[in-house]
Amino acid sequence: MSKSKILVVGGTGYIGKRIVKASLAQGHPTYVLMRREIGFDIEKIQTLLSFKEQGARLVEGSFFDHQSLVDAVKQVDVVICTMAGVQFRSHNILLQLKLVDAIKEAGNIKRFVPSEFGIDPSRMGHALEIGKETFGDKMIVRKAIEDAEIPHTYISANCFGGYFVGNLSQVDSLMPPRDRVYIYGDGNRKGNYLSEVNRTQGIFYEMKPTVLRMIRNRTLLVTIMVMLWQSDPLTESLEAATPHLHGSDALAKFVDPALKGLSSLSPSSDHPCRSGGLGLTCGRTEMSNRTAAVFMDEDDVATYTIKTIDDPRMLNKTLYLRPQENILTHNQLVEKWEKLTDKTLEKVHLSAQDFLASMKGVDIALQAGFARVYQIYYEGCLMNFEIGEGGEEASKLYPEVRYTRVHEYLQRYL
Ligand SMILES: NC(=O)c1ccc[n+]([C@@H]2O[C@H](COP(=O)([O-])OP(=O)(O)OC[C@H]3O[C@@H](n4cnc5c(N)ncnc54)[C@H](OP(=O)(O)O)[C@@H]3O)[C@@H](O)[C@H]2O)c1
Repeated sequence: MSKSKILVVGGTGYIGKRIVKASLAQGHPTYVLMRREIGFDIEKIQTLLSFKEQGARLVEGSFFDHQSLVDAVKQVDVVICTMAGVQFRSHNILLQLKLVDAIKEAGNIKRFVPSEFGIDPSRMGHALEIGKETFGDKMIVRKAIEDAEIPHTYISANCFGGYFVGNLSQVDSLMPPRDRVYIYGDGNRKGNYLSEVNRTQGIFYEMKPTVLRMIRNRTLLVTIMVMLWQSDPLTESLEAATPHLHGSDALAKFVDPALKGLSSLSPSSDHPCRSGGLGLTCGRTEMSNRTAAVFMDEDDVATYTIKTIDDPRMLNKTLYLRPQENILTHNQLVEKWEKLTDKTLEKVHLSAQDFLASMKGVDIALQAGFARVYQIYYEGCLMNFEIGEGGEEASKLYPEVRYTRVHEYLQRYL
């Protein structure tokens, strides 16, 4: 079978240039959109020329010229978009709606991969307001894709190494700390750091969705929650972590946000996770065992992305990148660096409250980065759910890819 022709939109960007490289490496005829607007940006021009030298074809086009996008799309089978989506760099996720329109009109595309490459936005309905825009915008793009019935694959790439590994996930630098490192919570992220709302939602998850839809009555729900909570083997650790949480009054405090999520369940959704309304939802067993983060080499993200293109198993599904050896707690990440440098860093543990307080006064664009760290390390948003029918795990699907381990990534910073 001949390899699909791939058009990369956003090809000169941080992840985009790796997608171009992986596409060429895997033998796909590779096209890269060359936007007229780049004008005198000599770096972009040189990058595009280097792609051409490596065998890619440059296709002129502009987001301000619909026909040019349609013409570009018509030349290929697959479109991968890596549009900017990092607040402190640039954030233009919704521009992709123009690309969706072009793909719809062209009518020939057999797979579209929109710019996601991070936390699964469908699970972030509950996210902190700061930085939530990214998830909301990515969901708007998803809706446009699905409404237009465009065949697609979503990539949930978890933590890019450049943002989360080299700096040991510190928020003030992209380079490793010299002497002191802030550790989020106890750095181990076992069950007792669960937020109470997440925990409540976890219990909901175990209830049948049909039952959930029936329980809109708050009093009845609180009663059920108390019964479930009291029979839960994790209660002890939760109470140890949050001694103020006793009795139904305290529980009720967490039922309201969860109920709010419930009210947005549509009758057609058979699972609360898919409604987006509950945000973080998860089974109790996995919640208690979960670890914090999943770290990815950006080239591996690109390799896995390209692997999905001609793979029918990934049609209209989400690829979650969770290679086993790169799932680490914050302590484990720091330990790897200490081992490599043979130096012990001073550890300063930050409670969730102190972490959130430290965001105040920080530049608004940088606050989105704080929010990501909070969601990953305090809420455990990367690993607090099982991959369901709508997804596949990358390293299981493509065991032939030898992914970069975290200690290998860290070696670059020595
Ligand atoms: N998981 C993680 O840790 C992580 C970290 C960072 C980013 N991400 C995600 O990865 C995706 C890509 O982010 P990135 O950092 O690679 O992006 P980026 O380098 O900031 O930008 C990517 C490309 O977006 C295009 N672009 C930007 N502004 C544009 C405009 N006004 N009009 C048209 N095109 C424009 C440019 O394409 P041209 O090449 O055509 O100029 C640019 O090269 C985003 O969805 C982001 O959320 C994830």
